[in-house]
Amino acid sequence: MSVLNNGVNSVNKTFENKSALVTGASGAIGGAICEELLKNGIKYLAVLDMNSQEPKILSDWKKTYPSVSIKYFQVDVTSHEELEKCFSEFTKTIPSLDIVVNCAGIFDESLYRKVLEVNLIGVIACTSLATEHMKINKGNEGSRIILNVSSAAGLIPFSTFPTYSASKHGVVAYTRAVAHGLRDLGIKFLNLCPGATESKLLVKNYIKDYTAIASQEELDAKKQAMMALIQSPSVVSRAAVKIMQEGENGSTWVVKCGELTESVLPEVRF
Ligand SMILES: NC(=O)c1ccc[n+]([C@@H]2O[C@H](COP(=O)([O-])OP(=O)(O)OC[C@H]3O[C@@H](n4cnc5c(N)ncnc54)[C@H](O)[C@@H]3O)[C@@H](O)[C@H]2O)c1
Repeated sequence: MSVLNNGVNSVNKTFENKSALVTGASGAIGGAICEELLKNGIKYLAVLDMNSQEPKILSDWKKTYPSVSIKYFQVDVTSHEELEKCFSEFTKTIPSLDIVVNCAGIFDESLYRKVLEVNLIGVIACTSLATEHMKINKGNEGSRIILNVSSAAGLIPFSTFPTYSASKHGVVAYTRAVAHGLRDLGIKFLNLCPGATESKLLVKNYIKDYTAIASQEELDAKKQAMMALIQSPSVVSRAAVKIMQEGENGSTWVVKCGELTESVLPEVRF
């Protein structure tokens, strides 16, 4: 168990000269993961999100890391065509595809099909494409990484968010199954399951969903309890880099209240 608050985790150049593609990268956690990869020496960065405008932070990153190639791709992860086009454009400009982080996600129980399309099918589509591209360039064992962002709700069902919870359980199951089935490829498939983390997704939608089901008193109590547990996105991004460095293929990690722990799950046998 390690505490990830206060920047305890040291920055090194583990990812020097490597390439990374991050989905949901305009968001709180995706953006923080991009920053952490930049600090750790990444050389080529594909920043994917669905917004038509590239995130403003990109110009800061370009100034801070002038030797890094940073490109924004407007992609809806539910569109296979858009994903395919992005992977093919990005991989044409890099020596090899090394890291893919699937972070795009939504949280809205009233849009249950959409939640499954973005949170689960989007991850499956992106993982499949990443695997196809990574297969071509066999690097050292563990040098090619696919990290899928699930949730604490992907390990323990949250009865108030059943669809979100199902989508995130799906991510954990899919990632572990692929890690086992494709273990001979030498690609490291990882699951990261954050607990409550400061972001638009959490604040807007979580509170909105509670408003629909709870009284004001209950809502206030839930908000207070939630605020006490909230970690910053940078805690999650440091956890992401740490497990990319140290996690084993198929492992699942929880980062909650600033602490990173490996989740012990039944062995995958088939
Ligand atoms: N914030 C939390 O408490 C928390 C906890 C556990 C897991 N997570 C997971 O972490 C991930 C990132 O969440 P966040 O908290 O940074 O939220 P966020 O809302 O800040 O970021 C999510 C990003 O995904 C993008 N996105 C949504 N649909 C997309 C689509 N179809 N195609 C491409 N991009 C799309 C959004 O534009 C946004 O930039 C999500 O998968 C979320 O489920 C978040």
